[in-house]
Amino acid sequence: MATTQTPVSHVWPLGTTLDADGVLRLGGCDARGLAETFGTPAYIVVEEDLRSRARRFLSAFAQRTDDYEVHFASKSFPATAVLRLFAEEGLACDVASGGELHLALNAGFDPKKVHLHGNAKSIAELQQALDAGIGDIVVDNLVELERLERLVPAGERQRILLRIAPGVSPDTHPKISTGGPNTKFGFNLDDARTAIDRAQASDRLDLDGLHFHIGSQILDLAPFRAALEVVAQLGDFRTYNMGGGLGVAYTHEQSAPEIEDYVERKVSLMREILGEGKRIADEPGRALVAHSTVTLYTVESVKHNVVDYVAVDGGMSDNLRPMLYDARYEAIVVGRPPGGSTAVHLAGKHCESSDILIAGADLPDPRPGDLIAVPVTGAYGHAMANNYNGQPRPPLVFVGDGEARAVVRRETYEDLTRRDLP
Ligand code: LLP
Repeated sequence: MATTQTPVSHVWPLGTTLDADGVLRLGGCDARGLAETFGTPAYIVVEEDLRSRARRFLSAFAQRTDDYEVHFASKSFPATAVLRLFAEEGLACDVASGGELHLALNAGFDPKKVHLHGNAKSIAELQQALDAGIGDIVVDNLVELERLERLVPAGERQRILLRIAPGVSPDTHPKISTGGPNTKFGFNLDDARTAIDRAQASDRLDLDGLHFHIGSQILDLAPFRAALEVVAQLGDFRTYNMGGGLGVAYTHEQSAPEIEDYVERKVSLMREILGEGKRIADEPGRALVAHSTVTLYTVESVKHNVVDYVAVDGGMSDNLRPMLYDARYEAIVVGRPPGGSTAVHLAGKHCESSDILIAGADLPDPRPGDLIAVPVTGAYGHAMANNYNGQPRPPLVFVGDGEARAVVRRETYEDLTRRDLP
């Protein structure tokens, strides 16, 4: 039976359809069937959306320069299946800890295409990176520079970049702004000059270039110019990495720069400010993964107070972003034709008042048992999921061509006690 499809907004994963009765299909799979098979809450990941964004990044760079590398910032979605998919697509990988390094290598990334970040790398983590023979270590501070020099065996050289704090703040939430004048990340300009001299004098380090990352969820690209102009004063190097940071639209009325516009801006800034012949590295996280994923929840309770509270079976254990960054999301009630909405607070099930997923959500008369779908939860959702209130973390379900498969199972109550010792 053919039904008319209402177009879904640009925030939903590639290929999503919604018909006039509110039937939602993700990767060709009916959302209600997914909820029945895998339970809720569940992260539903549209594989083709991940692949398509990886390809867009790669081809946007390939069309503009010969010497580039796109690193997946794995902190944004550190799941083996996601890492494996991006390795297959030919991306490199940025890891920010020994744990992320382990995940990237286990997922099949060529060690030479893995690059280690972190503002507090331990000796063990540096050693782990050296043993694995990774690509770049992005050195953050003078203590780390000395540690690394001592760890690299005589006769060998480790390639490094230096992370610079350019003193430039983009227009984003202060908690995800990382390159401002008083940041914990990277070298200030004085220390950067010292570090450059030391690294260049060292027979154990190969200083390939400079790195900066000014922040995340950046919608106005202008600050990349100011940051690169500062960093360009530090000398002439082969490689420059301007970090990640490209923001995404979380709601239908929001818009974000296209991947191609972001790449064009970065490549042309490099040419203009640094000249020809430089190697450019980029490390997007959010823009690769955010749109791929929709979280499905079931409504458990509805109550009327000053506003209506609609409480679901997840919340701050699967999505901390509304609580940490006042991040705005939107939702639909699956199987209910859109329209006739009332403003409700879509609340989580956790024991604190901050556990509101969407304040003032426009939802058509949600009732207990309804299925709720929240898009744009691929970035930093699974990544920051936790067991608050003993909540088992949700599964990750890959969907495509009408097929669904869990790539991470739901946690069980046994998992909650698995680390206990007698
Ligand atoms: N490179 C470095 C050195 C980073 O620190 C980050 C993110 C990225 C790349 C990737 O940035 P992206 O392209 O995803 O903006 N939990 C926060 C975001 C924290 C970002 C941390 N660093 C959130 O949920 O908004």
